[in-house]
Amino acid sequence: MSERVDWVSAPSAPIRGEITVPGDKSISHRAIMLAALADGTSRIDGFLEGEDTRATAAVFRQLGVAIEAPAPSRRLVRGVGIDGLSAPSDALDCGNAGTGMRLLAGVLAGQSFDSVLVGDASLSRRPMRRVIEPLAQMGATIDAEEGGLPPLRIRGGRALRGIRYESPVASAQVKSAVLLAGLRASGDTEVREAHPTRDYTERMLAAFGWPIDFAPGRVRLSGGHRLSATDIEVPADFSSAAFFIAAATLVPGSELVLHGVGLNPRRTGLIEVLRAMGADIREDARRERGGEVVADLVVRHARLRGIDVPIEHVPDMIDEFPILFVAAAVAEGTTTIRGAAELRVKESDRIATMAEGLRALGIRVGETSDGAVIEGGTLRGGRIDSHGDHRVAMSFAVAGLVASDAIRILDCANVATSFPGFVELANRAGFALGGARR
Ligand code: S3P
Repeated sequence: MSERVDWVSAPSAPIRGEITVPGDKSISHRAIMLAALADGTSRIDGFLEGEDTRATAAVFRQLGVAIEAPAPSRRLVRGVGIDGLSAPSDALDCGNAGTGMRLLAGVLAGQSFDSVLVGDASLSRRPMRRVIEPLAQMGATIDAEEGGLPPLRIRGGRALRGIRYESPVASAQVKSAVLLAGLRASGDTEVREAHPTRDYTERMLAAFGWPIDFAPGRVRLSGGHRLSATDIEVPADFSSAAFFIAAATLVPGSELVLHGVGLNPRRTGLIEVLRAMGADIREDARRERGGEVVADLVVRHARLRGIDVPIEHVPDMIDEFPILFVAAAVAEGTTTIRGAAELRVKESDRIATMAEGLRALGIRVGETSDGAVIEGGTLRGGRIDSHGDHRVAMSFAVAGLVASDAIRILDCANVATSFPGFVELANRAGFALGGARR
């Protein structure tokens, strides 16, 4: 059990200055995985020093890969080659990370040895059938607990064959698990998606020299090639930047610069939606960093209006709904969210946890099976439970800036999974965020 941490977030002065948020979580996981499977040594810069991504690195160490950390946010990964992983002596602990577990299932399904993937209490409640089914179609044998829940017991020595998979959920994790299994499968592996999702696995496989053909909504590769080591620069995580984008938008008098934020179009739906609500977000110095577009974002305070969130933006902002709920709570008018049922199977049921928290702060929220209707109003102070969900905790820290009184947020330790140093950085930008005693 991790330590119990509560926060108090109080109304603040304007949010100002220039900050850089930590490296992208999705890219950091994938960088460790592909570097481990490559021939030669890869250097990763901007690696996210979060618990999720460190758990993935620890798993690969258990699989026989030497990974050094010569400086903070830097890793040297001595790749063992596509056939070079060795049998672990213990269960592999993915911590809180759905990305870690689902992508690892793809990597491990085609190995010669058995392995077991375990996670924390939250991860142990998250659905794994979505990866087990396509991997089983490829020839893998993976046993889960009742209801398709972790731990996952992966049988070694199965010969995998490529499949053509039409993914029924908009999930980059599912797509990536199938592609990673496809590296060790015979023949072609193809994934089609009705709603395109983040394409980091595809881009990074290409960067490591694996032949791959991809466009939004489809990707194809074949087994039997090799990965060659390369250096990866990880941009700042848009999803971490999102809390600061919202904070500067909501607090009057704010002007904040966020440096080097990754702007992969499959991640930036929140910018479109906040702009449609009236936000003032400017992109400066657009450039490329490690094959991804990054820019400095300049965010100024603006008054927001509620909107119907266009359904086509949902996959492109799937991790940003908790903070959008907060923005909607202080916007003028009603915001309607639909087509976001995936929120119910994240680190918490994010529709339920955000609705419960906002209601405790005096906001009217109607819950639907796949979204919510939020009526903008005045946030009161109060006490809310993050249910151990990092993004819910950080979202209510932002809510505290514009509430009429302080908000006490319970169970915030998991913020370290994705955003180590959040409290310090937030306070540097002008938050009034402190630890609380029970
Ligand atoms: C991720 C994909 C998304 C996202 C998660 C990271 C990834 O999950 O919510 O934070 O790195 O592939 P789904 O694939 O479940 O949508």
